[in-house]
Amino acid sequence: MASPQTLAVVKQTVPVLETYGTQITTVFYQNMFAEHPELLDIFNETNQKLGRQQSALATTVLAAAKHLEQLEVLLPQVMQIGHKHRALQIKPEHYPIVGKHLLGAIKEVLGDAATDEVINAWAEAYDEIASVFIKVEADMYQEAMWSGFIPFKVIKKEITGSDIAAFTVQPEDNSFDVSRLPLTAGQYITVKTDPEDSDHIALRHYSLYSVDSSEGLKFAVRRDNRNEHRGLVSNHLHDKIEVGDTLLLSAPAGDFKLNQSLIEQNDIPLVLISAGVGVTPVLAMLEAQVKANPKRPIIWAYACQNQDFHAFDGRINALLEQAEQVQKSTFYFESNQLLNEEWLKTLPNPADVYVCGSMIFMDSMIDGLAALEHSNDYIHYEPFGPKMSLSAG
Ligand code: HEM
Repeated sequence: MASPQTLAVVKQTVPVLETYGTQITTVFYQNMFAEHPELLDIFNETNQKLGRQQSALATTVLAAAKHLEQLEVLLPQVMQIGHKHRALQIKPEHYPIVGKHLLGAIKEVLGDAATDEVINAWAEAYDEIASVFIKVEADMYQEAMWSGFIPFKVIKKEITGSDIAAFTVQPEDNSFDVSRLPLTAGQYITVKTDPEDSDHIALRHYSLYSVDSSEGLKFAVRRDNRNEHRGLVSNHLHDKIEVGDTLLLSAPAGDFKLNQSLIEQNDIPLVLISAGVGVTPVLAMLEAQVKANPKRPIIWAYACQNQDFHAFDGRINALLEQAEQVQKSTFYFESNQLLNEEWLKTLPNPADVYVCGSMIFMDSMIDGLAALEHSNDYIHYEPFGPKMSLSAG
């Protein structure tokens, strides 16, 4: 527990760091990568170029510092980040490296304002925050379905909705039977690749679209041509990886999952809202719900560009047919069909809602549901990008 003096100094300096937050983390990354170029094989080059990880780290450190007396209030966020860290194989020995360069960057950017007292207080704060992450992640390493990255062979690759590749993979080690793994709908696997267009190894998370692993692990990857920085790994998987090729995967991770206590009941409906490739984890959730209890009412809403981009349509319909009470809505935004607050008004309240899509889509759905007084406890979401920037207080 930090001393009262440390707490006071940290609280006083949070506003200053908020002002310089992004600058500090930019300097931090530059210096850290200069001293530890091997970390470029772990961090997402695209996020770096777009400045996304910078803001996620800054937001998280500041959010954590504000709650230094009771870091346990941040546990849900720490868990979510911890899953990603575990999937990427971030280890305890990495934390002092980040700590050293974060403090160094605070000194460099604040100059004379970074007195010894300020630096010592932030060193103590960082150690406390890091120890919470390390502890949470230690449990996750214990529980992981396998350790590290292991080789899998691609046994099936299908294109769905024009720009999504659905992969099925089996471990190269025949003695490893994945058919009985305790997969949870909403989880993702992490792929380690060595794309030709990059000097570095690249790691990316992709959601499982099914929890039935009798044929192998099934995950989906969207091709991404939106700008020059994006799609490094997804396009490599689309263009270069075929049936018979090998992929390195770390064990399934993530905490975007169905509320177990509501699966068996039929009063509160399951609402699955997604856009584009965001359909992937909610498709696995649909499968899990229908298998466990097909009587529960299900409301399914999906938005994409047009019919050509409508992913997994056949699979979705086959699952919805197994459910007893279904309401299905599709929105093609090229035809001006918008999945917006007007549609959210049609939802019953309470409803057990799961949302997945781009950050902008997530923001609009979460804000819309909050405006309609849906309880936070019933809104679950998984943006494909850092979550803290949406949820940190
Ligand atoms: C991702 C915070 C320590 C490597 C993240 C994210 C946050 C975060 C908020 C984004 C999660 C998301 O996508 O939702 C922190 C905090 C740390 C810490 C507060 C210290 C207390 C570390 C360490 C390493 C590391 C020690 C390794 C040297 C990564 C990587 C990602 C990530 C590689 C994925 C994002 C990317 O590749 O750009 N972290 N982290 N983190 N973190 Fe950490």
